[in-house]
Amino acid sequence: MKIIVVGAEGDIGKAACAELGERHDLIRVGRSSDDIQVDMSDRAAIDKMYARLGPVDAVVSTAGDVHFGPLQEHTDETLMLGLKQKVMGQINLVLAGLKTVVDGGSFTLTSGVLDRDPVRMGVGAATANGALGGFVVGSAIEMPRQLRINVVSPGLLDVSVPRYGKWFPGHNPVSSKRVGRAFAKSVEGAITGQVIIVE
Ligand SMILES: NC(=O)c1ccc[n+]([C@@H]2O[C@H](COP(=O)([O-])OP(=O)(O)OC[C@H]3O[C@@H](n4cnc5c(N)ncnc54)[C@H](OP(=O)(O)O)[C@@H]3O)[C@@H](O)[C@H]2O)c1
Repeated sequence: MKIIVVGAEGDIGKAACAELGERHDLIRVGRSSDDIQVDMSDRAAIDKMYARLGPVDAVVSTAGDVHFGPLQEHTDETLMLGLKQKVMGQINLVLAGLKTVVDGGSFTLTSGVLDRDPVRMGVGAATANGALGGFVVGSAIEMPRQLRINVVSPGLLDVSVPRYGKWFPGHNPVSSKRVGRAFAKSVEGAITGQVIIVE
């Protein structure tokens, strides 16, 4: 398969690419790193990317900034960062890609553990994750041409512990290998409309 991976250089992106890259042709996309530079929060840039790279068999997103901070310090602006970047960035990859992904192809997005197992300062991520789960469940039943859509929702990755571990007291890190396999399950399998939990 020919697969676009947005966020390929990140911790989750590397896990997804390590697994999918064994069997498929990957086009690695990032905002400033990777083979191709696209800011997924810019719909016009996404349209240009698909015009240049399409048609493709699958689109995988492992990207999406959110603001971490205490609830009482959140503002319209800090919460909108996650909604614009993590939620609408990934949703726009789907909306703009509906005509570019081939019949029977798939979209796989990334959310995370914090809307079911919260930590302090994680409300921005929890809000974004919940929205993505809703989008995937709601959109799967209306996908044209047997297209499928899922979202991978991992716990804290083992490789991310040095960066984020102190904010996740008592959480069991998940293996990057298992997270990579969750992307294979979505891309190569038959499920749709699922939140694929890895923990
Ligand atoms: N790491 C974990 O343990 C973990 C667990 C559960 C959920 N998550 C979620 O998974 C997502 C990725 O996390 P991560 O730790 O892998 O992040 P990361 O290591 O910081 O990497 C993020 C990647 O996404 C790219 N990216 C970010 N915003 C983009 C945009 N607007 N357009 C295009 N590319 C963009 C970055 O590219 P550039 O570097 O070029 O900007 C980078 O390659 C986040 O939403 C995070 O909340 C992470």
